[in-house]
Amino acid sequence: KPFKRILFTGAAGNLGRRLRERLHEFADIVRLSDVADFGPAAPHEEIHLCDLGDRDAVLRMCEGVDAILHFGGISTEEEWAPIMQANILGIVNLYEAVHKLGIRRVVFASTNHTMGMYKTTDLVDASMPPRADGYYGVSKVFGETLSRYYWDRFGVETVCIRIGYCWPEATNYRQMTTWLSLDDLMRLLHRALVTPRVGHTIAFGISDNDGRWWDDRHAAFLGYKPQDSSRQFADKLPPTVEYPAADDIATFYQGGVFLHNGPKYKP
Ligand code: NAI
Repeated sequence: KPFKRILFTGAAGNLGRRLRERLHEFADIVRLSDVADFGPAAPHEEIHLCDLGDRDAVLRMCEGVDAILHFGGISTEEEWAPIMQANILGIVNLYEAVHKLGIRRVVFASTNHTMGMYKTTDLVDASMPPRADGYYGVSKVFGETLSRYYWDRFGVETVCIRIGYCWPEATNYRQMTTWLSLDDLMRLLHRALVTPRVGHTIAFGISDNDGRWWDDRHAAFLGYKPQDSSRQFADKLPPTVEYPAADDIATFYQGGVFLHNGPKYKP
């Protein structure tokens, strides 16, 4: 196995629950963390409940781990306060701990919503400026920038994965474009963990779908080869569909229905 002990944050979440039993292939011991309880540990697991906004608790959570899969945090558009706590303060606390403890590599679950204000007719790659579609996307841009700083200044390696739509099935045309299978996510996590030199890399987390909006060539050296495709769901979608309605803002921007959100800031 590549590592003795890895840490996975966000273990109580959608992806954490689906990935949990497979993480063992990366390390002898899998330390799982979340702010929410998610039951007892299996024999090869350790559980550390912790709020990412709690600096001391985050340092303790990271002690003794060789690499981190950072999936914890707010995962959708929300009010600013919880986003600030989990995705801004939380990732600052995490990288402070990573640097202090000499942890060499992090894989950060970023999002396609860092680029949601690009048009659905644009081809986006990792060298283009971020154009987030809400506070959530902005907070993930912050995480990408912070991790780049920790590489440039301190040599901590990070692969940021801009995950598309990682749910069991794609059920509309946007999801067809952005879908990521769990098996392909595992393949990408594996490459992100074992590729000898990754520096700071932004990769797009999608399967081998038709009509992709993202060009992943800047992460090509990782050698990630998706084996799945949303084509398997094509026959479940109606043959003709007005998707989305032609006057819907979600038609024009890659962020899709996230464009229906206004700022949720409440003073
Ligand atoms: P999720 O919302 O189901 O899970 C996130 C977990 O983080 C939750 O269990 C939550 O309790 C925990 N969390 C929230 N605030 C916290 C805090 N202050 N301290 C500690 N833990 C906290 O999200 P999901 O779908 O599992 O996604 C995991 C990661 O992947 C997220 O970072 C998300 O932004 C990212 N992602 C997921 C996509 C998907 O298709 N599922 C798409 C794009 C990005």
